[in-house]
Amino acid sequence: MADQGIESVLQETRVFIPPSAKDVGGPEWLISSLDQYNEMYKESIDNPEAFWAKVAEDFHWFKKWDTVLEWNAPDAKWFNGAKTNVCYNCVDRQVESGHGDQPAIIWEGEPVGDNGSPVDQRTLSYKELQTEVSKLANALKSKGITKGDIVTIYMGMVPELAIAMLACARIGAPHSVIFGGFSAQAIADRVGDAKSKMILTCDGSWRRGKVVELKKNVDDAIESMGNDSPVESVLVLNRTNCGAPMHTIDSDWATETGAASADCPCEELESEDMLFLLYTSGSTGKPKGIVHTTAGYMLFTATTAKYTFNLVPDTNQTFWCTADCGWITGHSYIVYGLLPNRVPTLMFEGGPDYPTPARFWQIVDRYKVTQFYTAPTAIRAFMKWGDEHPASCDLSSIQVLGTVGEPINPEAWMWYRNKIGRGVCPIVDTYWQTETGGHVLTPLPGATPTKPGSCTLPMFGIDAAVCDEAGNVAKENVGGLMTIRKPWPAMLRGVYGDRQRYIDTYWSTVAKDGEPYYAAGDNTRRDELGNFWIMGRTDDVINVSGHRLGTMEVESALVSHESVVEAAVVGMPHEIKGTGIAAFVTPAPGFEGDDDLIKTLRAHVATEIGAIAKPDMIRFTNALPKTRSGKIMRRLLRSIAAGDINITQDMSTLEDLSVVAKLSEKDEG
Ligand code: WT7
Repeated sequence: MADQGIESVLQETRVFIPPSAKDVGGPEWLISSLDQYNEMYKESIDNPEAFWAKVAEDFHWFKKWDTVLEWNAPDAKWFNGAKTNVCYNCVDRQVESGHGDQPAIIWEGEPVGDNGSPVDQRTLSYKELQTEVSKLANALKSKGITKGDIVTIYMGMVPELAIAMLACARIGAPHSVIFGGFSAQAIADRVGDAKSKMILTCDGSWRRGKVVELKKNVDDAIESMGNDSPVESVLVLNRTNCGAPMHTIDSDWATETGAASADCPCEELESEDMLFLLYTSGSTGKPKGIVHTTAGYMLFTATTAKYTFNLVPDTNQTFWCTADCGWITGHSYIVYGLLPNRVPTLMFEGGPDYPTPARFWQIVDRYKVTQFYTAPTAIRAFMKWGDEHPASCDLSSIQVLGTVGEPINPEAWMWYRNKIGRGVCPIVDTYWQTETGGHVLTPLPGATPTKPGSCTLPMFGIDAAVCDEAGNVAKENVGGLMTIRKPWPAMLRGVYGDRQRYIDTYWSTVAKDGEPYYAAGDNTRRDELGNFWIMGRTDDVINVSGHRLGTMEVESALVSHESVVEAAVVGMPHEIKGTGIAAFVTPAPGFEGDDDLIKTLRAHVATEIGAIAKPDMIRFTNALPKTRSGKIMRRLLRSIAAGDINITQDMSTLEDLSVVAKLSEKDEG
């Protein structure tokens, strides 16, 4: 029965064409059949340079390129010799072509009035955006920021966050956006690594009716760096009136931009100039700064956004990606991939269930959202909160539904399609990474037959394969490494300040005849139709609510507390988060492994990293189970955390894992 349901989904999805595209006669580029996709995909792989050169014709260049691609593994130069500016292509170009009055960004703030209506709403046209971005860009310049200086952005989801990113892009100052949920320590780590001279922040941000003091975290970060702090100035936007104290290096956003000129021409940048840095977790060490550059990233994000979501300007579309700009999803599919397509992008400041679990659906209804893009963890939460919430709103505007961040369970997929997509909207399950810049595996709506749980087929220009370490392609339905065999325009260009880590992490796992392939760090397989199924990470990275965390990062945070001698962190199944965090901790002598210590340690991890890294479960053990060679038996810990191995706790609060360890030793690899 269940299979039949899925079969009918397959059929419907195959023929579905979003109504808006039809209304305008279906633009010729719209991919509306699998054959059309196959043909174009083949072109993009057989002759990537011709393919991307053609795409590039749709963008603005101050100077055209000498070569489309120079590939010297693992270094790619796309559109070398050209000059362009991402901000120009996002903003100025729309103004120049006579669309300056169209909405570029639609924003809703979190707070609501007594009647439940939002109190803060803003729509910025391209013209207004151009003015705001230019003023801020001039304000940055007046603080001494010039091309190549890395600017840190630590803000809530307000329009000024997008304005800040664009202002940096405008003057060629790479930005490093830090998610507003990260702690002071996390800011210090990132600002220190990037040697960032300037931080843009808010006094506070709204989170479920309360103020999160962002500026205070910035102050604490700077203070903790002491004389090593590279920060020369901080620009503070007043969002919450929480009275954040101002220091000598601080200045007020409104004052500075108010005094600045609205005339700031876009810097003519080289294709390979750095556009931004974004820190992400790996299996070892501190988070690494993923480097993205200008031209290739711009082309790829705008092109993938267009095809994956069927973006058609002038058809009353409104695109909403619910991610935070602090993650790559927000960079690529709120800001950079959206604006060049001239479809308004919606930004929302709050969370999905404040003040009610219907908030997201009210927003869809209010702004007639046509493309809705969220994470499986959110979908599972919506399911739990009840069908009455989406049912209370008019969701008929939705044309395409997207998911991202982790594999989606078929149950959540079906619910999403039926309760949010009226049983007709195609779902695009987009697989990609901070490192890939944009979608690398995804269905195209109305063209690719979909199967719940599969992210289906490669994006144009992505030579994706399931390989072994020697680069041999795995047989149908046999698992292997998620590999990309050729460079693509938005691929990362490096790990900031750490060339070796770039090579070791991505280019040293798979190689064929001496040619390294990109190894994504995921296990995957392809089915009989060629669809990809992602089967989890190959490294010690866990995916918590669609956010990547290194288990070692959480372990380091735990052992930095005086009460902890040793800690091991593994992922465990979690109903909503997909993967939860389980920590096994050996307390130091004199410390009691009790509920109080659990609370203390959870709070400590939040201080060291951020609330998203708080362990869901902490268990105390007198010693961590280890193999004879001294390796922590992670597989055993995962089984215990998942409840597959039951250990009856004795009267003491400490578990003795050594016995189970002896029994399991032969199973550990
Ligand atoms: C890792 C990348 C890319 C934006 C959000 C996460 C997992 C991502 C999917 C998907 C299965 C997915 C992978 C990947 N992942 N999307 N559709 N299906 N797994 O970005 O923090 O860089 O994490 O997220 O494991 O490697 P990120």
